[in-house]
Amino acid sequence: MSGFAIEVVGLKKKFGKQVVLDGVDLKVPTGYVYALLGPNGAGKTTLINILSTLVTADEGNVRVAGYDVRSEANEVKRSISLTGQFAAVDEILTAEENLNMIGRLCGLTSEQSAMRTADLLEHFNLVDAAKKQVKTYSGGMRRRLDLAISLVVNRPVLFLDEPTTGLDTTSRRALWEVILELKKQGITIFLTTQYLEEADQLADRIAVITGGRIVATGTAEELKSQVGGEVIELRNAKDDVIRTIPTTGSIQDIRFTLNELASKVPQDTKISLRKPSMDDVFLALTTNKTNNLEESIS
Ligand SMILES: Nc1ncnc2c1ncn2[C@@H]1O[C@H](COP(=O)(O)OP(=O)(O)O)[C@@H](O)[C@H]1O
Ligand SMILES: [Mg+2]
Repeated sequence: MSGFAIEVVGLKKKFGKQVVLDGVDLKVPTGYVYALLGPNGAGKTTLINILSTLVTADEGNVRVAGYDVRSEANEVKRSISLTGQFAAVDEILTAEENLNMIGRLCGLTSEQSAMRTADLLEHFNLVDAAKKQVKTYSGGMRRRLDLAISLVVNRPVLFLDEPTTGLDTTSRRALWEVILELKKQGITIFLTTQYLEEADQLADRIAVITGGRIVATGTAEELKSQVGGEVIELRNAKDDVIRTIPTTGSIQDIRFTLNELASKVPQDTKISLRKPSMDDVFLALTTNKTNNLEESIS
């Protein structure tokens, strides 16, 4: 392998006339947790589907674990795990039986499979439900089982498409822990998310995607520094944030901005300064920034 678990060059994909991926380039170093952050409809699932050989690209070069997704699809499949991969969770079986079955199908011994199963049931808070048929499970329990199933066998590259969507806080934390454990074992993890906090907390690198294009890449810190120094936050008398305005962080810029604002906001408006959050980054990158100040004070 070249040091990159995933390499994408000039990737394009249309569905009918709709351009869904419009020239995507990205490189994921081996062993990284890489987050693809973007709003609904940005093209995240399509990209994951192409990386995992489920959908073919129209144009571009895509390599996963060193293999070409088009000409070496079988090698790619053997190198990856994917959530939802075993969509046919057996409803009649229990969670424990499902996990064990996958373990055995993937070549684990019965001891290995039993150990892995117990571990995953514990991690995803399914111990109490372990011996109940899946058909009795709630949506959240199914989601957790689906994730557990994708983790039965460790492959070099793990794809997680919005893994924590619909999970409660506890399961979300548990999944983050699992992800960091897998990273320690050298597994490359490529996940998509709409949650800025998640990308911020977990990822070594983040790519922001919107409208089928990567609009920024970097660490959370790098992305935050791109949007500037300090954010001015305005609050009303009830202490609700009514407006946030990015500034360069220089005294001149902050003074200029405050002067502009002074005549335009109610007298009891309070101001504070804070560092940019991933939310600010996201907003700045995914909306056309014509004139932030004009927009935010108009
Ligand atoms: N199989 C498909 N056929 C037609 N359009 C699709 C198909 N899959 C996705 N799309 C469209 O492509 C766009 C990107 O979808 P998707 O990759 O699912 O985005 P995301 O996962 O970021 O929400 C959406 O507008 C979606 O409607
Ligand atoms: Mg999606």
